[in-house]
Amino acid sequence: MEVNMKKHSRRRFIATAGAAASVAIFGPSLFDVSRVFAAPLTRRDIGALSASDPIITGYKTAVTAMKALSVSDPTDPRGWTYQAAIHGTHASGSHIAWNTCEHHTKYFWSWHRMYLYYFERIVRKYSGVYGWTLPYWNYSSPIQRQLPAVFRDSSSSLFVPDPNRPNVWNTGAASLPPSHVDTSGGMSQVSFYPGGSSSLESNPHDNVHVDIGGFSGWMGDIQAAAQDPVFYVHHANIDRLWNLWKAQGGGRSDPLSDGSWKNTPFTFFDENKTQDTMKGRDDLNAAAQLNYNYEGEPAQVTESCIRFVLPPWILQLIELIRWPGPPVICGAERVSIPIDIKAIRQRMLSAAQNTSQTLVLRFDEVEAERQPGVVWEVYVGLPAGKEPDPEGPYFVGTMALCSAGLRSQMRHDFKPAEFEFPLNRVIANALRTNADKLEVTIVPSPILINGKRTKPRVAAPARIGRVSIAIENQQKRTR
Ligand code: C2O
Repeated sequence: MEVNMKKHSRRRFIATAGAAASVAIFGPSLFDVSRVFAAPLTRRDIGALSASDPIITGYKTAVTAMKALSVSDPTDPRGWTYQAAIHGTHASGSHIAWNTCEHHTKYFWSWHRMYLYYFERIVRKYSGVYGWTLPYWNYSSPIQRQLPAVFRDSSSSLFVPDPNRPNVWNTGAASLPPSHVDTSGGMSQVSFYPGGSSSLESNPHDNVHVDIGGFSGWMGDIQAAAQDPVFYVHHANIDRLWNLWKAQGGGRSDPLSDGSWKNTPFTFFDENKTQDTMKGRDDLNAAAQLNYNYEGEPAQVTESCIRFVLPPWILQLIELIRWPGPPVICGAERVSIPIDIKAIRQRMLSAAQNTSQTLVLRFDEVEAERQPGVVWEVYVGLPAGKEPDPEGPYFVGTMALCSAGLRSQMRHDFKPAEFEFPLNRVIANALRTNADKLEVTIVPSPILINGKRTKPRVAAPARIGRVSIAIENQQKRTR
């Protein structure tokens, strides 16, 4: 028997509080199992789980079952291939909810939260583990920068062989460079989109995809990525970062006044094959609305859509200068762009000191023919002879192409990529000399092999159509 009730909808949930309260009478079988737990279920840090933990063994069991289901009935939306295709697929034919992932839009965080929520329910069912939760890959921890060990065991359903997941990851030789999983730029932003959401989508989200995918792997191709079981633990971490970003306060908030963000429905299937929809407003509060939290996170911020809330900030972008030269081509060598700042030096410095303004370096119209397979580091003010050091005072962020900007992956609705690097913290140092030119330096940054930097290889160069420096004005709305 199936009960088609929107368990995840807070408003419906309140409206049916009587029914929810009588769980004991109806019995758990009527409900999504996550609802019958009084306290939220906790998504665990995969680094703390042993190979025999039920979270790990349950994931393996479920992936095996879901792969088998894909073979016996390719139209079953709970099958592994169908689930991955909801995110993206190269397969032709159209099925409900296929190719619906959101990248480089304001729906990035909310869409992926919904996707994981239904995926987790399906895995929970097939895992055979009551209360199973999706673990997260916490690569912010310096000891968790290799592919988590349970994904490297070639006898397991969590393994993906080369070339779909490059050998260097499967052997444990490769690791993520610290600059590729540096959340500080995104965490410091106050606005939602562009802002914390888009910055953290770039670093670490896109970087980890590109690093694990390399030149040919699934993870580097958005239409193949969700076939790799590591995709989901990567995304659990990205989802956790949404909570952490909001928990910092200081005006950080979901776009609660944006009707389309709150009310656009997206389609998924639950563990009973029941088609369902979810909206942004249904997933603002993971613990209260979706009944999960993350191990070790601070108290979740509870936001409410019931009242009409004006956005606390208005964003305005003022371009100060644009690089007049030809498009910048980034390949395996370091590239420097000398920006003439004579006329804007004072404005840059005062913007950087003003707490309601952010000085930003912008790259627009960025594209490549296919996945370059490398992440670039970006520096501002790096002296000509100096070795780039992401721990040093000139590092401003990273650039990697993932979905947006890739001609080969986005044949139908091509959209170039854009990047924004906050400069407030670095600019005074970058301008310490009186030179009229400010160097923007772009350096390929390959994955580490046995902990060491290696010679970069780039499968296709990236082309930056427009480089500019701008001021982002955040004005507090006056009511
Ligand atoms: Cu929808 Cu990490 O991708």
